[in-house]
Amino acid sequence: MVEHAPKPSWIDVEKWLTETVVKPGPEHERALSTAVERGMPPIEVQPTAGKLLHLLVRMSGARRVLEIGTLAGYSTIWMAQALPEGGHLDTLEYLPEHAEIARENLAAAGLEERVTVHVGSALETLPSLEGPYDFVFIDADKQNDSNYLQWAVRLGRPGTAIVVDNAVWEGALLDPSMDETNAPGIIAALELLGRPPFDATVVQTVGGKGWDGFALALVK
Ligand code: SAH
Ligand code: DHB
Ligand code: MG
Repeated sequence: MVEHAPKPSWIDVEKWLTETVVKPGPEHERALSTAVERGMPPIEVQPTAGKLLHLLVRMSGARRVLEIGTLAGYSTIWMAQALPEGGHLDTLEYLPEHAEIARENLAAAGLEERVTVHVGSALETLPSLEGPYDFVFIDADKQNDSNYLQWAVRLGRPGTAIVVDNAVWEGALLDPSMDETNAPGIIAALELLGRPPFDATVVQTVGGKGWDGFALALVK
């Protein structure tokens, strides 16, 4: 290593990994660019994380996936593309305008038949769904993370895989005053994941979205 050379930044590394390893397709790029054009917050998972979700769906052999928090359908597209023939993904989104853009992006990716976008508050939609889901991705309002985990168990089965985004939140776990809206919900969810019926871990991440992480769990 050359001494005193400026350190490459996390964001530059993330970009290089995305271009070299992940190689998103035009349907992924479209979902990101329409989100920007339509004024949505840029809070999709990173491409490296989208590809991770895709691989986890494939590795777990999931046929039925539940997503809570759709936004423009970016993570939805990655996961739906991992489903086998006959598989299905249900994604829950509170804001009708987000759901509409997600539907457009899913249609452009040729996934409209494999995905159902449910509009409404997730806690109101969840009781109308029928399990068992094989894989659940939780990425909506962090205050409800614990409720969503309980629903994942209710709508899951022993062996259901769960991913919870935003599990580290710049370290706010140790200092909830950093974000009194979201940190308590994240902490409560992690405490839940430390006990039965969950078998879980958390992976910390850095990159284009700063310091964060995701929880990965199995229902025992
Ligand atoms: N999973 C997406 C990003 C989701 S952002 C991706 O990685 O591409 C979080 C989304 O959750 C937003 O679109 C927000 O409107 C939605 N949301 C927030 N509260 C919600 C609730 N109570 N029920 C359903 N969706 C909710
Ligand atoms: C926010 C939400 C997310 O799901 C995320 O991954 C990053 C940021 C937010 O609400 O700020
Ligand atoms: Mg998130």
